[in-house]
Amino acid sequence: MTAPLRILVIFGTRPEAIKLFPVVHALKADPRFECVVCVSAQHRQMLDQVLDIAGIVPDHDLDVMQPDQTLDALTANLLVGLGQVMDAVRPDRVIVQGDTATAMCGALAAYYRKVPVDHVEAGLRSYNIYHPWPEEVNRKIIGAMASLHFAPTETAAGALKAEAVDPARVHVTGNTVIDALHWVTARIAAAPALASGLADLEARFAGKRIIGVTSHRRENFGEGMEGIAEAIRTIARRPDVAVIFPVHLNPNVRKVMNEGLAGLDNVALIEPLDYPHFARLLDLAEIMLTDSGGVQEEAPALGKPVLVMRETTERPEGVAAGTAKLVGTSAATIVTELSTLLDDKGAYEAMARAHNPFGDGHAAARIVELLANEIGHET
Ligand code: UD1
Ligand code: UDP
Repeated sequence: MTAPLRILVIFGTRPEAIKLFPVVHALKADPRFECVVCVSAQHRQMLDQVLDIAGIVPDHDLDVMQPDQTLDALTANLLVGLGQVMDAVRPDRVIVQGDTATAMCGALAAYYRKVPVDHVEAGLRSYNIYHPWPEEVNRKIIGAMASLHFAPTETAAGALKAEAVDPARVHVTGNTVIDALHWVTARIAAAPALASGLADLEARFAGKRIIGVTSHRRENFGEGMEGIAEAIRTIARRPDVAVIFPVHLNPNVRKVMNEGLAGLDNVALIEPLDYPHFARLLDLAEIMLTDSGGVQEEAPALGKPVLVMRETTERPEGVAAGTAKLVGTSAATIVTELSTLLDDKGAYEAMARAHNPFGDGHAAARIVELLANEIGHET
């Protein structure tokens, strides 16, 4: 019998952990693979929330996070640390996900060792290198080095092929975030206490129409965040509305939101939610207002209209399907768009169709089979 293929799975932030735990679960259940997990801990608390619920104990933890870290210090630490782990583990292949600094450095360290790197959520493009920043370029750099490109959608696969990536190495798998959402929904159904921690807020806001908010993008720091806070202040004057906003731990977000939204009766600024509780918030919300990538994928799957506080998106599928709308970060525009959804039933219903352009919940299984095809072909 051939030795199992040793795969090093690398991640560091909350969204990477959410989108890779289905792949880790599938690899660990399959004797054709030896799955080694390395977390950079580019995020600490928000990463650990996901590791806990997914039951993943990393084999390596670089613990790199620093308060208010800069992109250059983060990148330097990641590259050196991830390279050292690779030299110790000597993987046959490396997996990274998405577009973060951890993913980009993981791919680069693998490339420097001529270890094939496989890219989950490949091919998303906004075609604007400053939106999302620096993620658009991170994702393109990974694409330049990747061995297998796991594209979530045909659009993403098409973008890679248009960049002359070998079409035989590009596979449409769906997005693993849908696998994660199905998994957590099933866990909550079996054990409702996993998501019961919002009960006090649910009672406080009973009868109100809930707007769920998340925000963290670097390109929105400063003026963008101020605009978002002003929009929330304005919409919260409506007595029929309540806002639930789990605030990202980035100090550049917390300062603006804590100062701009303090003391408002129908705005709850809360700590980042673990994944089951965030799934509960998605369920409670009538509308999601976000600049997140992952939330743009989850909300349409649940039939929740999502207003995207960005100028462009590398996830045009939700917009094309009519369940997501780009609204930027100007307070006036956000308030107008929210008011339309709140007051115009037809406009709301046109967006609130459960539609899932991002996958069927079986992406991880497809990825694992595609990896198995590489056994015996490793360089
Ligand atoms: C990172 C990713 C971004 C992703 C986002 C998801 C990069 C360049 N950015 O952005 O692509 O969309 O994560 O949330 O890779 N912090 C904590 N505890 C945590 C997490 C963050 O205190 O658990 C604080 C720290 O002060 C940290 C700061 O947030 O320095 C910024 O974290 P960082 O990962 O650099 O950037 P994000 O804005 O979170
Ligand atoms: N999320 C969470 N708790 C929260 C906010 C978000 O678990 O309080 C989840 C959300 O369901 C999604 C992911 O985190 O799967 C999105 O992460 P984030 O917005 O930080 O990053 P992005 O997707 O923009 O890279």
